[in-house]
Amino acid sequence: MCKILGFRYTAKMPKPIQACPLPESLAKLGLGGPCVRFALLFHTGPRKVFPLTLEAVASLMDPARLRWISFSHFEADECGALNEWLAAAPDAQPLCSALAAMVSVDDFADRPAKPLADGETHSLGTLRVQWIDTPHLPHGMETGYLFETTTRTLLCGDLFAQPGNQPPAITESDALVWEPSEAMRQEFPYAPIHGAGALLDKLAATEPQVLACMHGASYRGDGAALLHRLGAALGKH
Ligand SMILES: [Fe+2]
Ligand SMILES: [Fe+2]
Repeated sequence: MCKILGFRYTAKMPKPIQACPLPESLAKLGLGGPCVRFALLFHTGPRKVFPLTLEAVASLMDPARLRWISFSHFEADECGALNEWLAAAPDAQPLCSALAAMVSVDDFADRPAKPLADGETHSLGTLRVQWIDTPHLPHGMETGYLFETTTRTLLCGDLFAQPGNQPPAITESDALVWEPSEAMRQEFPYAPIHGAGALLDKLAATEPQVLACMHGASYRGDGAALLHRLGAALGKH
């Protein structure tokens, strides 16, 4: 059995962090049993709030049994607490893009990373994740995302970031994700890169049924449609 954990971050105390098994349907696959040695954590949270993220994970499972610590790109909220997690979980290893491993992670991290090439799959036991390179989307040349092939969950990191305090953990309303994330993007724009549309098409080709967002509510529904919509919006810049 394996388990994938993600965090969502909200802006205000006292509950800025919640740990969520993503998606909820993972629970139906029999998760939470004694065999969680392949558990994967996607994003570590910033180093300075590590006690809170540790507490949040501990509410779901024994943090010491995490096996993989993965993240989209090298930035404080994505991987600032990487070494704290490696200390807390003795069998854990960073799992990231080949470029992230070469440029930053194998220097920064206390244990060597397992690098993943674009399109490479990695078994978590009953689940399988695929790494998808998306350089500079939304920032960082080493950026990419993980797609879990059984539950069709795209761990889409900063994409569709939404502000606010307590959005639902997951919603089937595309408007509930799209409208606040687009409003936020106007004030805090994604890097307007050449080729963003092609990268979003690449993500959409996975036909995700869940977009597991790092900041705000996750979305269950036609993930490809929302990704194409973001590609069209970015293409206007
Ligand atoms: Fe980021
Ligand atoms: Fe982020």
